[in-house]
Amino acid sequence: VAGQLVDSYGRVHDYLRIAVTDRCNLRCVYCMPAEGMTFEPDHRILSYEEIAEIVETAAALGIRKLRITGGEPLVRKGLDTLIAMLAAIPGIEDIALTTNGIFLAPFADRLRAAGLTRVNISLDSLRADRFAMITRGGDVSKVLAGLRASQLAGFSPIKLNVVLMKGINDDEVEDFLRMTIEEPIQIRFIEYMPIGHEDNSWRAGYMPLDYVLETCRRLGLDCEPAKEVYGNGPAQSYRIAGAAGTFGLIHPVSDHFCGSCNRLRLTADGSIKPCLYWSDEYNMRGHLGNPSALAAIFQRALGSKPETHEMARALAGGQRSQAPTARRMSQIGG
Ligand code: GTP
Ligand code: 5AD
Ligand code: SF4
Repeated sequence: VAGQLVDSYGRVHDYLRIAVTDRCNLRCVYCMPAEGMTFEPDHRILSYEEIAEIVETAAALGIRKLRITGGEPLVRKGLDTLIAMLAAIPGIEDIALTTNGIFLAPFADRLRAAGLTRVNISLDSLRADRFAMITRGGDVSKVLAGLRASQLAGFSPIKLNVVLMKGINDDEVEDFLRMTIEEPIQIRFIEYMPIGHEDNSWRAGYMPLDYVLETCRRLGLDCEPAKEVYGNGPAQSYRIAGAAGTFGLIHPVSDHFCGSCNRLRLTADGSIKPCLYWSDEYNMRGHLGNPSALAAIFQRALGSKPETHEMARALAGGQRSQAPTARRMSQIGG
């Protein structure tokens, strides 16, 4: 009989986010510092076999849904091989990918054939010059090609992640909202989070997502909650009346959703992170080959999971009750 991963607050965990690399071909301003990062050397990164071994234990403990993240997962060679290995593990029902989309177009078919079920693509601006500024050099036309290829490959619903930043892309909310009228996609607006950098540039760039619903009202767009959008994450979904697509709001800072948290994270170097925000983590690399030791680490990580993050307190300039993570988002995978 499969187990269940239940934490001290009664939250059932059936979702594991797996970072397959800490490397990325882009340097988005909210995710990595301008100078880049020191990347883990190859020998510290889990192999596909090691990831699959950890997922076998996770599935026996009740994990049903996986999301592949990074860094940028598609910088890792043969990702379709990993997808096929994970899809064959009994109990795994959903395998999704979060990608920046740059390398997606030539691989979309292969990933789908390997058993990938869903794709979320980061796209913070529809304007080429601005996209290049936010990503420090990315080409938006490649991302749009990745989106088209994913649609042709049959992925649905495809979600586009937009991190909303004051003075950077907040003037594009209308364009993104209008995109959902014609396109059968979901645009997800995300509040800018202080992961590994609770600094003044975050405070200056952060804006609450009430702004999106206010924009709908100002434009006279009639929006109502959309219940049917499939996902394992924290987005609240809405539809503009008559639209082909939907939009979602992910607002960890202004209104946290930790009470319904269902996820654990596995970093590329083999640590279980009970919470995105806090520094606590549990490395598994010394315990590979020993399923009961891996299972014990899952339970230990879960047992230490805090009730919630303290991003709102960070915004107010207050002290945190423990140490927030020093990892940047690129080392966690969101
Ligand atoms: P779906 O299954 O499609 O709903 O996926 P998802 O929304 O969980 O995945 P995605 O990787 O697209 O994440 C979108 C955004 O939500 C990212 O900015 C994540 O960092 C953020 N997010 C996801 N899970 C959590 C969480 O547990 N806590 C916080 N604070 N943010 C999260
Ligand atoms: N705040 C909010 N979202 C972020 N992401 C990366 N860094 C941050 C941040 N500081 C988003 C990416 C990607 C998702 C996994 O996380 O844009 O879509
Ligand atoms: Fe879960 Fe931590 Fe995210 Fe809250 S901040 S939803 S507890 S991972």
